[in-house]
Amino acid sequence: LASAPPLSLAEKYFQLRPDELNPLWGNPCDDIRHRKIWSKSKWCETLPKVLVIGPQKTGSTALYTFLAMHPALVPNLPSPTTYEELQFFNNNNYLKGLDWYLNFFPPSQNNGTQITFEKSATYFDGDLVPRRAHALLPNAKIIAILISPSKRYLNFFPPSQNNGTQITFEKSATYFDGDLVPRRAHALLPNAKIIAILISPSKRAYSWYQHIRSHGDPVANNYTFHTIITANDSAAKPLRDLRNRCLNPGKYSHYLERWLVEYSAHQIHVMDGSLLRSEPATAMHGLQKFLKIQHVDYDKLLKYDPKKGFFCQAVSNEKTKCLGKSKGRIYPPMEERSAKFLRRYYTPHNTALSKLLVRLGRPVPQWLKDELTNG
Ligand code: A3P
Repeated sequence: LASAPPLSLAEKYFQLRPDELNPLWGNPCDDIRHRKIWSKSKWCETLPKVLVIGPQKTGSTALYTFLAMHPALVPNLPSPTTYEELQFFNNNNYLKGLDWYLNFFPPSQNNGTQITFEKSATYFDGDLVPRRAHALLPNAKIIAILISPSKRYLNFFPPSQNNGTQITFEKSATYFDGDLVPRRAHALLPNAKIIAILISPSKRAYSWYQHIRSHGDPVANNYTFHTIITANDSAAKPLRDLRNRCLNPGKYSHYLERWLVEYSAHQIHVMDGSLLRSEPATAMHGLQKFLKIQHVDYDKLLKYDPKKGFFCQAVSNEKTKCLGKSKGRIYPPMEERSAKFLRRYYTPHNTALSKLLVRLGRPVPQWLKDELTNG
């Protein structure tokens, strides 16, 4: 029997099993052997039960904000780098592991029988902390958590505030068209409910262009919207890449079909993003039915703000709290030639989406009917 140093053994292993090069995290609590070695301070139940998958620029932040107002729903904690979006399943955050992900979910609401606790990670190595803590809390129980420094995904979902009736959710608009996302999401969250929010793909593309321009994207700042969307395959690579990133997520049926490979249709809700914008209470009513949660009347929670031009949270009779400046930007209307080009470009994709929705027994949104009549 021959052996080899660990690194060579690992190389040999992955030569034999190249399919295992990309990890696929499952829920450790689903397997008794994993459960046994799972840290006592981690709680699989806090994993999100609802994922809002985008795509980008369809009103996903408004939807996230409205969902977070519902008493039955608990959003993730914000990420220091990507704010409300964790972007776990679609990028390198996935390689940080489950531990990193779980730490984003908030700790438990106290119902009187629970024990209060506090966590400050800087206590562990704080010079004066042990003495000061003991002076005030001599009977406290102290928990130090030591993990492998590489396992950090679960850290964003701390043992939860969840009182058992609440549902955790997460929104990352880049999930919708992320190559590996449906498979990874299903491996970890097979029972999750998935929400996609769709608006006219042409409007989405234009909004996305304005978004990356305002983030200082050099290619977007050098080319007009029309040049980008009409770039052909002989154009310079940066231009082609930008065109693809701008136009591809709008091929809605293609990406939805990929989600349908992993999740069954009854787990997927396709929200009309235009309706969410113009009649949010109606859109949220449908969503609450899908999520089977207590009905909350969003007519009472939201108010149209004429200055913003959008529905915002009603804080008091006069006051509203709206989304920030980057949501509902002001920019010139799309040129007619671009609108015409995109109508034609998206016609086959919109036709496929309409057929898909009919096949699933879902309503065809007004914006889609309009695009197909004018296409
Ligand atoms: P624009 O800024 O181009 O108008 P996302 O949150 O997915 O990035 O989507 C941003 C878009 O949400 C905005 O695009 C805006 O049109 C839309 N939206 C829908 N409802 C909104 C609301 N209540 N407040 C602000 N923006 C809203």
